[in-house]
Amino acid sequence: MLERVAAPLPDGILKLMRAFAEDPRPGKIDLGVGVYRNSAGLTPVMQAVRAAEARLIERQDTKSYVGITGDPAFHEALKDLVIGGAAPADRIAACATTGGTGAVRQAFDLVRKTAPNATVWVPSPNWPNHVAILDEVGQRWRAFRHLDHETGALDRTGMAEDLEGLGAGDVLLLHGCCHNPTGVDLTLEDWGRAARLAADRGALPMIDLAYQGFGAGVEEDVQGLRLLLRQVPEALVCISGSKTFGLYRERVGLILALCDNRAARERVVARLSSINRLSYTFPPDHGARVVTMILGDPELRGSWQGELDAMRVRVVAMRKALAHALRAETGSDKLGFLADQRGLFSLLPATPDEMHRLRDEQALYGVEDGRINLAGLTPETVSPAAQAIAAVLG
Ligand code: LMR
Repeated sequence: MLERVAAPLPDGILKLMRAFAEDPRPGKIDLGVGVYRNSAGLTPVMQAVRAAEARLIERQDTKSYVGITGDPAFHEALKDLVIGGAAPADRIAACATTGGTGAVRQAFDLVRKTAPNATVWVPSPNWPNHVAILDEVGQRWRAFRHLDHETGALDRTGMAEDLEGLGAGDVLLLHGCCHNPTGVDLTLEDWGRAARLAADRGALPMIDLAYQGFGAGVEEDVQGLRLLLRQVPEALVCISGSKTFGLYRERVGLILALCDNRAARERVVARLSSINRLSYTFPPDHGARVVTMILGDPELRGSWQGELDAMRVRVVAMRKALAHALRAETGSDKLGFLADQRGLFSLLPATPDEMHRLRDEQALYGVEDGRINLAGLTPETVSPAAQAIAAVLG
C-alpha cells in the first residue's frame, strides 16, 4: 500500500527553505520564507516571550489538557488585540488552532461542511497555500485581481470588475494587513467598499491576519478589518501568532467567527470544536499561554510592543535601503515601490526563470512568483542583493 503513495506537488516556499539550508555558498542571501530576521540575520526570541516563558516554568502546576477550543483567556486577549470593540462579544465564536495555517484550514473546513457549493474568492497574486488548502478540501475558488503589475499598486478597477461575480453565500478572502506576497494593502476606503459589497451580496468575508504590527503599527494594522466588522453581519478572522509574537514553532493560532446571532455562535463553536477533535483533539497551549501573559501584563506588553515596533522600523529601513541601492545599480526607479510597500514582502517583476537565475547564479533566494522577504536583508547584504537583482532583472 505505502508503495503506491503518490508524492504531492512540493510546496514552493518549503522547498526553498530546504534548498537554502543545503546551499554551501558563503554569500547566500535568504529572502525566501516569511520570517522576521534581525540585523544579524537571526530570528530572535522576543524579550517579552522569554520573560513570560520563565514565569510559566516557575508557576505552571499542570500540563493537563485545556479545553477543546483552547484557553478562554487566550481567546479574550487576542479578540481584544485584533477586534477590540468593533463587534459584539456575545456574537463571536473563538477556537484556538495550530498556528495561522491551522486557522485557515479550520475556516475552509467549516465552509466546506456548511456550503460546499460556495466559491471562495482569493486575491491574485496570493499566498499559494490558500488555494492549495482549498484544493485539498475540495472547495471551489476563483481569483480576483489585487495587484496592478504596471504601477505596483492595488488594482482597484480589476478587483471591482472581478468581484462583480461574488455571489450570495460566497466567501471573500482578504489579507488583514501586509498582503502576502505583494505588500500592497487595502486603504480604509477599500475596506469600506469590500464590506458593503459583501453585505449587499450576502457573502462571507474571511480575513487572514498573519502580520499584525509589521505594516503601520499594532493598532493601525487592524483598522480596516475593524471597519469591515462594523458593517457586516458575519465574518471569519484567522489569526497567526507566528510573526507578531515571534512564536513560529509554537504554532499559535486562533479563529474568530462573527456570527449573526447567539444561536449561530453556539453551533459554530460546536463545529470548530469538532474540527479540532477530529484533527488533533486539543490545540497547542504553550505559545497561546505566552501570548495571553504578554497581553495581560502591562510591563511585558510594553516590552513586546516596543520590540515589535523596532522590527517594523528595521524592515522599513531595509526596504528604503534596497530601493536606494537598486536605483544606484539600475539608474532607474522602476523598483522604487519597494520602499513604500508594507510588511515583510514585495513582489519583484520577475519570471520564475529569473527567480531561478537569481538563486543559481547569484545565491539570492526568493520565491518563484517573484516574492522577496525584505526582513531577510541586513545592512551588509543590501548592496550584494541589489547587485544580484540588477544583474538578472537589469
Ligand atoms: C510565508 O509565506 O513564507 C510564511 O507564511 C510561511 C508559510 O507558511 O508559507
